[in-house]
Amino acid sequence: MSHNAYLPKLGRIAAIKDEVPGNRAIKTYQIEFVSGDGFEHDCGQCAMISVFGKGESMISIASAPHVTGYKQFSIMKTGRVTTALHDLNVGDIVGVRGPYGNKFPVKDWKGKNLVFIGGGVGLAPIWPVIQTALHHKGSYGKVSVFYGGRTSRDLMYKADLDKMREQADIHLSVDAKEDGWKEFVGFVPSNVKDKAPSPDNAIAITCGPPIMIKFVIQNLKELGFTDDNIYTTIENKMKCGIGKCGRCNVGKDYVCVNGPVYSWAALKELPPEY
Ligand SMILES: Cc1cc2nc3c(=O)[nH]c(=O)nc-3n(C[C@H](O)[C@H](O)[C@H](O)COP(=O)(O)OP(=O)(O)OC[C@H]3O[C@@H](n4cnc5c(N)ncnc54)[C@H](O)[C@@H]3O)c2cc1C
Ligand code: FES
Repeated sequence: MSHNAYLPKLGRIAAIKDEVPGNRAIKTYQIEFVSGDGFEHDCGQCAMISVFGKGESMISIASAPHVTGYKQFSIMKTGRVTTALHDLNVGDIVGVRGPYGNKFPVKDWKGKNLVFIGGGVGLAPIWPVIQTALHHKGSYGKVSVFYGGRTSRDLMYKADLDKMREQADIHLSVDAKEDGWKEFVGFVPSNVKDKAPSPDNAIAITCGPPIMIKFVIQNLKELGFTDDNIYTTIENKMKCGIGKCGRCNVGKDYVCVNGPVYSWAALKELPPEY
């Protein structure tokens, strides 16, 4: 019998962590494959997560490839499927198909300084790259992480970021002044401009709301980063995930296959349909 690419594997929710409260809450899920027939993935790849009877959503795999036993996903409550996902409990079964998409070329970045810039749930797609760089610390240069949210309650992975301070430069920000907040106040691109990371032997990786990415890239360029040394992801709406339905097209590219990871140099060659 031929393999059905749309058939998900079964995953059991092994752990759920509340990251961010509110209307657009974010929860992090650890999902174990039920019959041990999971898949390996690379940094930047995604998976379709399904809630049976509701539908499926493309979500970045937020755990690093070297982590075995489960896949991690951080999911913002946005609409039908993600709300249904937020209503599930530990032990519940979901569908998981993947891995989909291309990858961040992390092996090519050995010996380089890495500057990560995330906003909101946009920290999830770059989290596996950060974990990989720190796991193989001797192979990479300095690791800096810029991460911001509207308020301190909107920041995810806070405990992990605090722990990470021993190994990396962590620069957090909130949009407006708050009692007790001792780090940067202002938008993420302004924090980048303020700290002015050096472009020398460095790669910048940014992911977050499109407006944040636009100004981050503008500021990185002013600092001297070249288009080849800036990477981002694009999140066009997806249906099949396997280059069949055309839902995610940008110019000649199926983002689910050719993306979601792009250098800024490559993205500039595509029509602005993202
Ligand atoms: C490559 C990729 C990686 C992603 N990674 C993550 C992740 O790690 N965590 C996470 O929380 N979300 C991620 N997303 C977004 C996620 O797929 C959507 O938020 C989700 O599918 C919405 O489904 P829903 O049924 O809950 O909402 P719907 O009921 O379908 O829609 C609710 C609202 O969200 C809008 N919407 C739906 N999908 C998208 C989208 N892709 N981009 C912008 N707006 C959209 C709709 O237009 C509508 O306004 C990713 C998307 C892609 C394409
Ligand atoms: S989601 Fe169907 S072609 Fe990309």
